[in-house]
Amino acid sequence: EKGGWPSFMKKEISEEPEAIANTLRGRLVDGRTVIPELEPLEPVFADIDRVVVLACGTAYYAGMLGKYAIEAWARIPVDVELSHEFRYREPVLSERTLVVSVSQSGETMDTLMAVKYASAAGARTLSICNVQGATIPRESDAILYTHAGPEVAVASTKAFVAQATALYLLALKLGESRGLLTPESAQPLIDELTSLPEKLQSVIADSSERIAELAQWSADTQSVLFLGRNVGYPIALEGALKLKELAYIHAEGFAAGELKHGPIALIEPGQLVFVVVPSPRHTGSLHPKVVSNIQEIRARGARVIAIAELGDAAVVSSADEVIRIPLAGPMFEPLLAVAPLHVFGMELAAAKGLDVDQPRNLAKSVTVE
Ligand code: M6R
Repeated sequence: EKGGWPSFMKKEISEEPEAIANTLRGRLVDGRTVIPELEPLEPVFADIDRVVVLACGTAYYAGMLGKYAIEAWARIPVDVELSHEFRYREPVLSERTLVVSVSQSGETMDTLMAVKYASAAGARTLSICNVQGATIPRESDAILYTHAGPEVAVASTKAFVAQATALYLLALKLGESRGLLTPESAQPLIDELTSLPEKLQSVIADSSERIAELAQWSADTQSVLFLGRNVGYPIALEGALKLKELAYIHAEGFAAGELKHGPIALIEPGQLVFVVVPSPRHTGSLHPKVVSNIQEIRARGARVIAIAELGDAAVVSSADEVIRIPLAGPMFEPLLAVAPLHVFGMELAAAKGLDVDQPRNLAKSVTVE
């Protein structure tokens, strides 16, 4: 039930912090992961030479975040593929391939068919799923449930942050299995993960009103662009998908580095662009490059809304508007930056008088290929 909320989507965005906390609960103890559900695959973890993540839509963007974490913490190469593309070529798979499917519903036919295909080809399969007892988990060697609670709105929000959290847990587990993470070296990452719910709570509380105003002003916008880099890139894609499905507005997400290879030609006066800005504090940060992207597009008349860390002064002089997120480690910023984009999609749809929970032409789970 909506419990007094104007929409399920608004309620579910407010539950994002809880979805992360519930997905983590009991699974991190003394610098190590404790995930009994993964036991069936444990002997395989030390031996796999590749991970393939299969998913569609928002779950695919969570999968992209999983790639950054698994490659960084476990040093295993990861491919992230749209299930419907993977299934219809001749993918190379072996018993040393771990196929990780990500699906909120566990019923997405494209992903189910891809998992069956991978299984038949001898790959090991792990399902990350939110709905207990769904079909995809039943077809998999092991299941890692997200505990986001029931998600009713067609647009996926709290499931996304829970999926990313589950993938980060898997990345920690794989890092341990390979001897790359010790309780000491994992602890700072675990501290980051466990502090996310509180930080995300403050992002939602502090930014939602401002985002709603910005959405009101943007109700007549024909097109919105989203830029991000590294872990901010999937967030840009997610922000764009939400606007398409909820507000029926043309929206594109780009890797910010790609701008000069084509998309900058789209920039004209008044174009609204969201930019997910990485923290300047991290070693090797892409912050200066993203700030210079902002300057390039502002110089061409675009209106820039930056999502940036508290205290990042450089964005203030370059962007039109800055939405602040608390300080977090590089891998964890996207889980804070995504909520304002969820709110923006929802508020823009509401400003246009559209049904936020049931966008046209879409179903909550896509059970046909
Ligand atoms: O149930 P699933 O996670 O497998 O669904 C995948 C996509 O259909 C889903 O994420 C879709 O893209 C959402 N409507 C996006 O908000």
